[in-house]
Amino acid sequence: MAFYSLSQPFFLLLLLPTFVVSQTSNITLGSYLVASKESPSWKSPSGDFAFGFYQLQNQDHFLLAIWFDRIPNRTTVWYANGDNPASQGSKVELTRDGKLTLTSPNGLILWNATSTVDTDGTASSVEGAAYAALLDTGNFVLVRKDFTYAWESFNNPADTLLPTQELKLGGILSSKQTPSNYSRGRFQLHLLPKGNLVLDTISLPKANENAAYYISNTSDIANSANSGQRLVFNESGHIYIVLRNEKIVNLSDQVPSQDYYYRATLDFDGILTEYAYPKPQRAGNADQSWSPVWSTPSDICQAMNGDEGLGSCGYNSYCTIGNNGRPSCQCLPGFNFSDPDNKFNGCIQDRIQDCNPGPSKAEDLYDMHQLPNTYWPKSANFERTQSNEDECNQSCLYDCECVVAVLKEGFCYKKKLPLTNGIVDRSVNGKAFIKVARSNASNFLNPKGSRVLQLQKKDQSTPILVRSFLLGGSAFINFLLIIAISILAIWSCNKKQKPSQMSSLLESNLQSFTYQDLEEATDGFKEELGRGSFGIVYKGVLHPPHSTICIAVKKLDKITQEGEKEFKTEVNAIAKTLHKNLVRLMGFCEEGPHKLLVYEFMSNGTLASLLYGDCRPTWKSRTQMAFEIARGLVYLHEECSIPIIHCDIKPQNILLDDSFIPRISDFGLAKLLMSNQTRTTTAIRGTKGYVAAEWFRNMPITTKVDVYSYGVMLLEIICCRKNYEEERENEEEAILTDWVYDCYKERRLDKVVENDEEAINDMTKVERLVMVAIWCIQEDPSLRPSMRKVTHMLEGVVQVPMPPCPTPFTSLC
Ligand SMILES: *[C@@H]1O[C@H](CO)[C@@H](O)[C@H](O)[C@H]1NC(C)=O
Ligand SMILES: *[C@@H]1O[C@H](CO)[C@@H](O)[C@H](O)[C@H]1NC(C)=O
Ligand SMILES: *[C@@H]1O[C@H](CO)[C@@H](O)[C@H](O)[C@H]1NC(C)=O
Ligand SMILES: *[C@@H]1O[C@H](CO)[C@@H](O)[C@H](O)[C@H]1NC(C)=O
Ligand SMILES: *[C@@H]1O[C@H](CO)[C@@H](O)[C@H](O)[C@H]1NC(C)=O
Ligand SMILES: *[C@@H]1O[C@H](CO)[C@@H](O)[C@H](O)[C@H]1NC(C)=O
Ligand SMILES: *[C@@H]1O[C@H](CO)[C@@H](O)[C@H](O)[C@H]1NC(C)=O
Ligand SMILES: *[C@@H]1O[C@H](CO)[C@@H](O)[C@H](O)[C@H]1NC(C)=O
Ligand SMILES: *[C@@H]1O[C@H](CO)[C@@H](O)[C@H](O)[C@H]1NC(C)=O
Ligand SMILES: *[C@@H]1O[C@H](CO)[C@@H](O)[C@H](O)[C@H]1NC(C)=O
Repeated sequence: MAFYSLSQPFFLLLLLPTFVVSQTSNITLGSYLVASKESPSWKSPSGDFAFGFYQLQNQDHFLLAIWFDRIPNRTTVWYANGDNPASQGSKVELTRDGKLTLTSPNGLILWNATSTVDTDGTASSVEGAAYAALLDTGNFVLVRKDFTYAWESFNNPADTLLPTQELKLGGILSSKQTPSNYSRGRFQLHLLPKGNLVLDTISLPKANENAAYYISNTSDIANSANSGQRLVFNESGHIYIVLRNEKIVNLSDQVPSQDYYYRATLDFDGILTEYAYPKPQRAGNADQSWSPVWSTPSDICQAMNGDEGLGSCGYNSYCTIGNNGRPSCQCLPGFNFSDPDNKFNGCIQDRIQDCNPGPSKAEDLYDMHQLPNTYWPKSANFERTQSNEDECNQSCLYDCECVVAVLKEGFCYKKKLPLTNGIVDRSVNGKAFIKVARSNASNFLNPKGSRVLQLQKKDQSTPILVRSFLLGGSAFINFLLIIAISILAIWSCNKKQKPSQMSSLLESNLQSFTYQDLEEATDGFKEELGRGSFGIVYKGVLHPPHSTICIAVKKLDKITQEGEKEFKTEVNAIAKTLHKNLVRLMGFCEEGPHKLLVYEFMSNGTLASLLYGDCRPTWKSRTQMAFEIARGLVYLHEECSIPIIHCDIKPQNILLDDSFIPRISDFGLAKLLMSNQTRTTTAIRGTKGYVAAEWFRNMPITTKVDVYSYGVMLLEIICCRKNYEEERENEEEAILTDWVYDCYKERRLDKVVENDEEAINDMTKVERLVMVAIWCIQEDPSLRPSMRKVTHMLEGVVQVPMPPCPTPFTSLC
């Protein structure tokens, strides 16, 4: 009792020391931290390091990280969720059962400490930790009762190694995207299982490794005792490889000092750098910074000479090395950075070159620029001729495929997009001629009157020059065309529904059914028509007065909680759509947990069964279907009052009506399944093989995901086969998108329509459709055309420019 009568301040004093101890050493089960601007952290006993939430620059997002805590600018040395930052209120907890988890405010696990499987296949269990601690080395450990480590941050590195940390066989450091973007970047340091330490680039998102730009040469196949076993960063700041015979191979041999902090970081520009920072107590004032003491490779621009990958600067750029040994990236004239925030991500052409200039002369459309000492040693030449400066310059200007011509030692090397591994090397006596479309070419009217139109896109990232090639030379016909286009534009605008009409439409057009109605109509949900990502579809029959109508009843069973709230809104949006290439919604039922949609019945099955079936539709009807589906998508994306992203375009979702007109089904449902509160919980929608790369990255989902899926489907329509056919005799043909691009590159498109005589006799159209499809499946969403532009290109109203390689980071290109 006496204890409780103590005055409060004294009581607090008693508590304080134990509180501090528990903060600085052992972290007990049940402890947690919550992400906020002022959130506390768990510190190492010396106070050098802290573990906790690190706030991203100018953002309300946090990384679970470890950083140097005693220097003014927090420098992260480890982070868990770079690809997946946590929002305010997220929580990291050492759970009662000894696990370390990071959870979002609504309870989803964003990250957890999982056991890493060693190269020898042994996995250590993370469960059963008795406590955790942040050691003075900067290593965060989960400790079992027997003092062995269940998990340690040192074995799960991000982009940095600290003194006393080792990289084991198979271990990887990954660079960040940019200094402030902690998403996984393109570069990695990898201690290969055979003993070589390499720096290489990976092709995101699949993480395929390209040729190394640094190799330690510590893999001895003849005598494995001479092979590398681990990479060591020792206490005094030395970095070396220890071989199996315990000999060492020095990497960094600078003179260490106890008065410095050290770290070795694989920087976002691909250079592995060891840094030192004077320890604060010795340095006195805080005006210090990290200085590099060692780095490799010394010239990354030159070192990146593998055949694959894109060099250090990405495609269509060139790399120069500064006095500090750091690369800098520049775009060619006529190109701009594809991501202004990340100059290592390559450049895209401001205007896409047109290979069909019609009557206008190349010299009126393009300027030739010169860059001394610049070349692209690893970009394939499509032509090499002996020539002088003028000839080289001219021959590129007049060759529609040529983007750059390099003149070197009396030879002219013509290159087309994409350009890779561009470098400036003053020791090379040569120059590059670059073809740049004139900025005023878009309103250029040549003497014969052919007009260059610039199609408007919603995102103006890649204006594409297109020309009305349909129209011979007559200015009068051009004039008519422009009038026709204007009328069309006005008409399509008027077609759009005004939002105010929304509610009335629901009442007038849509029937509300009871569950019992539908149970009777489907005879107790007896005949199953198919299963989608939303639930099962049943056939049913309605008997309104004097007639019988077949219906398809979709029972939605996987709606998320948010989707539940949005059900009415979404049904409303779907109800307002009316287009001959969409399946029409007739009614709905919402009774407690029962959510059903009633559609008109499509008697001829799916496009999939038609395409992959035994009697394939004719080439002509296939191209017609491709046009019609594209029109349906234009309608969904641009012509209804709220744009609808389908998210799951594939032949299984295209139904055929009585007259074999293709109709898009399942649209408008994506939102019901998608909880877009936190992006992290957004499961990938869509179907493998048809989903765009945005889903795998932290990128906004736009209508361009449908364009991608449409592109894959278009190839399937052209070739009458599935995108992926594992059992293909010829392995190269297994993935349709890759194979078709290969054939396109080799100008052997006849191979993709081999047994289709009708198509073989119409190769111009086959090529045009393939080119459109390749534009659609560009990995970079901003390069994909809008569906409206797709329809123009399919119909031949505009010329299709030459598409670049769809996946620029891969060996396909
Ligand atoms: C941390 O916990 C372990 C096991 O309970 C104990 O042996 C050790 O003394 C603790 N260390 C500190 C500094 O409290
Ligand atoms: C931890 O994460 C892994 C994958 O990230 C997952 O497979 C596993 O189920 C998670 N463990 C727990 C306890 O949530
Ligand atoms: C490894 O060998 C290659 C080829 O001989 C050489 O170019 C490279 O410089 C060597 N790497 C090191 C770190 O010595
Ligand atoms: C670190 O490695 C260097 C080079 O092998 C060696 O000279 C030095 O003694 C090592 N330092 C420690 C503390 O082990
Ligand atoms: C590595 O560096 C250390 C310290 O500079 C030196 O003592 C040692 O001899 C070097 N080892 C080799 C194999 O070069
Ligand atoms: C700390 O970071 C800021 C912004 O990144 C930078 O301007 C400043 O120079 C840094 N200070 C030190 C001491 O490194
Ligand atoms: C390229 O980037 C520059 C600088 O951001 C900008 O001024 C220019 O308009 C861009 N060009 C195009 C065609 O987007
Ligand atoms: C290339 O040819 C064009 C057209 O003839 C000419 O105007 C230009 O000056 C030439 N450029 C160079 C760099 O020689
Ligand atoms: C476009 O600009 C070039 C010079 O940059 C000029 O020679 C040409 O006449 C211009 N064309 C038009 C149509 O303005
Ligand atoms: C980081 O880069 C990735 C990939 O370019 C991007 O998706 C993401 O939005 C960026 N994150 C931030 C915080 O800017």
